[in-house]
Amino acid sequence: MLSFAEKNVLLGVCGSIAAYKACELASRLREQGVRVDCALTASARHLVQPAALEAITGTPVITDMFPLITNPEQGHIAVAQRVHLCLVAPATANILAKAACGIADDWLSTTLLATRAPLLFAPAMNTNMYTHPATQANISVLLERGAAFVGPASGRLACGTEGAGRLADIPDILDAAFCALHQDKDFSGKRILITSGPNHEPIDPVRFIGNRSSGKMGRALALEALCRGAEVGMITGPAQVSPPYGVKAIQVNTADEMYDAVLSCMNEYDVIIGAAAVADYKIERPETSKIKRGTDHILLRLTPNRDIIAAVADAKRPEQRVVGFAAESEDLLLKAAHKLRQKRLDMIIANTIGGEDCAIGADHADAYILVPGQEPEKLEHAEKSRLAKIIFDRLLALD
Ligand SMILES: Cc1cc2nc3c(=O)[nH]c(=O)nc-3n(C[C@H](O)[C@H](O)[C@H](O)COP(=O)(O)O)c2cc1C
Repeated sequence: MLSFAEKNVLLGVCGSIAAYKACELASRLREQGVRVDCALTASARHLVQPAALEAITGTPVITDMFPLITNPEQGHIAVAQRVHLCLVAPATANILAKAACGIADDWLSTTLLATRAPLLFAPAMNTNMYTHPATQANISVLLERGAAFVGPASGRLACGTEGAGRLADIPDILDAAFCALHQDKDFSGKRILITSGPNHEPIDPVRFIGNRSSGKMGRALALEALCRGAEVGMITGPAQVSPPYGVKAIQVNTADEMYDAVLSCMNEYDVIIGAAAVADYKIERPETSKIKRGTDHILLRLTPNRDIIAAVADAKRPEQRVVGFAAESEDLLLKAAHKLRQKRLDMIIANTIGGEDCAIGADHADAYILVPGQEPEKLEHAEKSRLAKIIFDRLLALD
């Protein structure tokens, strides 16, 4: 399974006002079990204290080239060879220029030249600096050489202006780092559409019927697909988790909206995975004004929603793959096998409902993977990230 644990990441911190966010980033990396070597440029040292990062990473922060002659473990060549990823966050206009030109005039820029680990830059700077043709040309050169970028985001900048140049949000940097660490791009060139999360079916303008789906399975699938080089689209209901960085996401509420969104774009994709817990029923006639509290009973009349995965399976081209999910309280395998056959799916993931590993809303699942003509594969207490990896491994085996 792809994991951050036991990976070694070099976190290079440059002289941007966003340097203080490096502490949060280092802390989040450590939480995931990453060994973090942290280097501060001379400018960064004016803005953030090495001691804070040392306390977080548990390793001495690198601030200079030459004192390290007596500590070869943290010399530029040793670190360059040891790390699995060089993450420069925040990356200044200056470090991008130096990396693009191969300038090696301090520890960080020298290490970026000495390493063959993947490079990931998270730029942060004033909008004019970012949009300057020199910076844009440097970014193009680095992209052409295979470096990855995350952000910058847009918004209010420390210099008081509004625009592109904010350091990407920490969760987005973590997603991008996770993808950059994954070197096996076996889904490169593939386009994958994933539905995710619950639906909200309105009762009146303020109330809805929903379900407990968190969207964690859809997110795990999207992140796995991105890491393996796919282009990923997501159509997501109101989930608890956001789509990973780099996904083209469309937000919807109701099953009808999800149906229309999926059917209108499914042609662009090679694989369609229906991981959303689509609402089977909607309110036949939602009220247009808020229903007043009273003493009388209210009857809500429900009507079935359209079946998204069945419509996708009907409309698909022969070479497109369709993966469905099923969740049942009883006769799980029988019902999932029936759905697989009836809807002519390429794969179905059958989740148990009830018990500790009820997949709906949880981080783990007890699940079966069913593929036509094969014995069901049982996964017990599987983390959703592991389940996602196995689903993509099995998809590869179908081709
Ligand atoms: C308070 C302050 C904030 C700065 N913020 C940024 C920034 O966000 N992005 C940037 O590219 N440069 C920024 N600079 C300018 C860089 O610090 C300067 O270009 C420096 O040479 C970068 O060195 P380094 O890339 O080695 O860290 C800032 C300077 C100061 C004084």
